[in-house]
Amino acid sequence: MDQLIIRGGAPLDGEVAISGAKNAALPILAAALLAEQPVVIDNLPALNDITTSVDLLEALGAHCGWDSSHALRVDAGRADKVVAPYELVVKMRASILVLGPLLARHGRAEVSFPGGCAIGSRPVDLHLRGLEMMGAVIEIDGGYIKATVPAGRLHGSHILMDVVSVGATENLMMAAALASGQTVIENAAREPEIVDLANCLNAWGAKVSGAGSNQLVIDGVAALTGGRYTVMPDRIETGTFLAAAMATRGRVRTTHTDPTTLEAVLIKMQEAGAEVTIGADWIELDSRGRELRAVDFRTAPYPAFPTDMQSQLMAVNATATGSAMIHETIFENRLMQAQELNRMGAKITVEGHTALVKGVAQLRGAPVRASDLRASAGLVIAALAASGETVVDRVYHIDRGYERIEEKLQGLGATISRRHTAAPPTD
Ligand code: EPZ
Repeated sequence: MDQLIIRGGAPLDGEVAISGAKNAALPILAAALLAEQPVVIDNLPALNDITTSVDLLEALGAHCGWDSSHALRVDAGRADKVVAPYELVVKMRASILVLGPLLARHGRAEVSFPGGCAIGSRPVDLHLRGLEMMGAVIEIDGGYIKATVPAGRLHGSHILMDVVSVGATENLMMAAALASGQTVIENAAREPEIVDLANCLNAWGAKVSGAGSNQLVIDGVAALTGGRYTVMPDRIETGTFLAAAMATRGRVRTTHTDPTTLEAVLIKMQEAGAEVTIGADWIELDSRGRELRAVDFRTAPYPAFPTDMQSQLMAVNATATGSAMIHETIFENRLMQAQELNRMGAKITVEGHTALVKGVAQLRGAPVRASDLRASAGLVIAALAASGETVVDRVYHIDRGYERIEEKLQGLGATISRRHTAAPPTD
């Protein structure tokens, strides 16, 4: 397990280029299975989850090759395998996103049933029920989701999602792209990554409208033609670096990003007392010499404050003046980083889905352990602000969602290095 060694206490200062969005790239890679002609997907981030996705596409018979370090060519024209194996799904829950494309393209799919993870049980009932409404017959056998389409081709349906789900919206959108007739998805997720997927599908010949609203309308087509697509910038990586600037009372400009995709985050950062300026593809946050106030916030589906930024802003609150309440409304167990932050001298009390954070004058470095991707990001942010040295363990969680995080932070003046240790446990 690699570790990050961080010596905190110095304000970050500089500019950092944002990578492509992991949570847009993963569904778009799955969508490549729908296309009969080759596709080229550009601005892919260099992350472990992307590597796992390529392994999965190849396991399904697609031919993949890198045109450049961030542009992948995928030819699924003759891909005819329909089993997403346990050893890949257990590494990446988002593998469930091949279910819709496989059913739409081949009428059959076997996907290992994705387990829960540190942040919650992560059910997939909405994915399965929507696909059944489109004509799939689904059984769970031997830990696998085994789905068939007796009619041969999925058909359109009017689907009301009783919970806003990003993944289920994406899976059903992709399935509907090749279904016969029209599909309407009510109470659809509105995240920018949903819009990016819809734009990508339309670039490849699909007919998706309403993306970004809570009602999607998809008119099925016979086939997707293929083509190129460039993945949107990562709004969560953007917010993470801006939060690091706040916690260290520094100044960071994030470039190659899109300020319109994280407005709820920027509003909270300004409420805390940071100065935020934006351009067409950049955001600068300046908190040099400023006293920041702890801010209350509640996570909720887009356009509200994203759950993927909760841990990062909790770390900022831990270093700010005053107290604040954080409500995590999306996942049932996503406040775990609080205990690790308390080991660094934070004063955080967790009651159910709520955390009370009392800011302290100075966090202190300590050995801490990452539990999931965004909790790890919060620990790194706290370590950058803390006096002394912090060793963050289980850094493979971070590598799933942040490209070259120590290099990017070094470029902002952080004292951070990676220590390679033995292979990660299969936790
Ligand atoms: C996506 O996960 C993201 N992952 C998550 O980011 C993100 O936190 C989440 O959306 C919420 O924004 C990717 O895009 C790969 P959901 P997803 O389905 O699709 C419940 C990160 O750190 N639900 O929107 O799995 C579920 O339990 C990751 O980058 C059902 O009840 O999230 C949760 O409470 C973590 N039944 C809520 O919906 C279902 O069938 C939202 O989950 C599906 C979901």
